[in-house]
Amino acid sequence: MTSSPILERKKIDIVIGTRPEAIKMAPLIIELRRRENFSVRVISTGQHTDMLKQALGFFKIEPDIDLAIMRQNQTLDYITSSVLSRVGEILDSNRPDAVLVHGDTTTTLASSLAAFYRQIPVGHVEAGLRSFDMQFPFPEEMNRVLTDRLAEWLFAPTERAALNLRRENAVPDENLYVTGNTVIDALFTALKLCEKPGSPVLFPLAGGAPFILMTAHRRESWGKPMERICSALLEILRRHKDCHALVPMHKNPAVRDSMKTILGGNERVILCDPLDYPDFVWSLGRCKIILSDSGGVQEEASALGKPVAVLRDVTERPEAVERGTAVLVGTEYDRIVHAADRLLSHDEEYREIEERKYGNPFGDGQASARIAGILTETLR
Ligand code: UD1
Ligand code: UDP
Repeated sequence: MTSSPILERKKIDIVIGTRPEAIKMAPLIIELRRRENFSVRVISTGQHTDMLKQALGFFKIEPDIDLAIMRQNQTLDYITSSVLSRVGEILDSNRPDAVLVHGDTTTTLASSLAAFYRQIPVGHVEAGLRSFDMQFPFPEEMNRVLTDRLAEWLFAPTERAALNLRRENAVPDENLYVTGNTVIDALFTALKLCEKPGSPVLFPLAGGAPFILMTAHRRESWGKPMERICSALLEILRRHKDCHALVPMHKNPAVRDSMKTILGGNERVILCDPLDYPDFVWSLGRCKIILSDSGGVQEEASALGKPVAVLRDVTERPEAVERGTAVLVGTEYDRIVHAADRLLSHDEEYREIEERKYGNPFGDGQASARIAGILTETLR
C-alpha cells in the first residue's frame, strides 16, 4: 500500500490591530483558511478593542492571539514599541513562513518591522497608496512608505498604486501584484446581508427619510478642524430642512468630545456608537451623501456610486476623485457647506455620480482569491 504524501502546510501569521484592518483582512483570512495548503494564525495587537471585535464578529473570526495593547489616549510611541516587542515575541515562539499585514496603521508598520528583524518575509496588502504628503494623513503616509520598503511581496489594489511602487523601485517587478482591494470583497459579502438595519438606532431612517452620513476620526483633524466639520454639518442641516444626519462616532475620546459638544442635542442628528459592518453598509447605501475623512469609506462609497465629500486636502485614493464620486473639501467650514449644498441641490449631477458605480476602480470582489493564489505559488 502506498501512503499519500503528507501536505506540509505553510504557516502564515496575519497581524491586524484596528477596525479597517479587520474588515479588509477578513475576506483574505477566510480565503486562506479555505485552502488546505496554509495554516493561518490571526494575531490581534489589540490596538483597537471593541471596534476590532465588532468588525471581526461579522465575519465570525476570533483572533488566535490577542495582545490587547490598547490604552486610553495611547501615544504613537507606545503603540509602536509595544507592537514591535510583543509581535516579535510571538514570531519567535512559533516562527511562521510569512507574515501578512494591511494598510497603514502603526500596527502595520511595527509588525512588519518585527518580521523584518527576524528575516521573515512580509506581504503588504493594500500597498502603494500615496498622498505624497507626509503630514496628511499623519502618520499613515510614512507608515505606508516604510512598510512597502520592509515587505517582500506588495499587493497593490490598483494600477495607480502599482505605478507609485514601480517609481520607487520598492521591490523587483516579479514581487509586485495588482489584485484589487479586499474592501470590495468585504463590501460584497455585507451587501448580501444588509437588506434591513439591525440596530434600532437606524430604525428612524428606514422609512426613506433623506440623510447625510458623516464619519471623521483622523489625527490631524482633532480639535479645531473637527469643530469646523461639525459646525458645517449643522449649517447644511439648517439649509436642508428635510435632511437628517447619521454620525457613528469613532471610540476615540478626542473625536467624541467635539462631536457631542457641537452636535449633541440636535433633534435631526443621530449620534451613535460605531455601527456593525452590515449596518454601516446599509447606511452607505441609503444615505443621500457622505461626509468622511475615512480611507475605507472613500472606496466603499465609490463602489456604491454614492457621492462623498472627503474631509481632507489630499487623498491617497485619487481614483475616486478622478471618477467624480469623491470631492476633496478639506476641513474648512465654507468648502464643506458649499460642496454638500451642491450635491444635495443638483439632481442631474447627483444621478450621474450614481451611475459611476459600474466599473468602480477599487476592485471586483476577487482580491482575496487573487492574493491567496499568488501566495500558493510563491510559498511552495
Ligand atoms: C487608528 C489608526 C488609523 C486608522 C484608524 C481606524 C494609527 C496611528 N492610527 O487611529 O490609521 O485610520 O485607527 O479607525 O495606527 N479607542 C477605544 N476603543 C477602540 C478603539 C479606539 O476606546 O476600539 C480609543 C482609545 O482611547 C485609543 C484611541 O481611541 O487610545 C485612539 O486609538 P488609536 O488606534 O491610537 O488611533 P485611531 O485614531 O483609532
Ligand atoms: N465602518 C463600520 N462602522 C462604522 C464606521 C465605519 O463598520 O460605524 C467601517 C467602514 O465601512 C470601513 C471602515 O470601517 O470599511 C473604515 O474604518 P475607519 O474609518 O475607522 O478607518 P480608515 O479606513 O480611515 O483607516
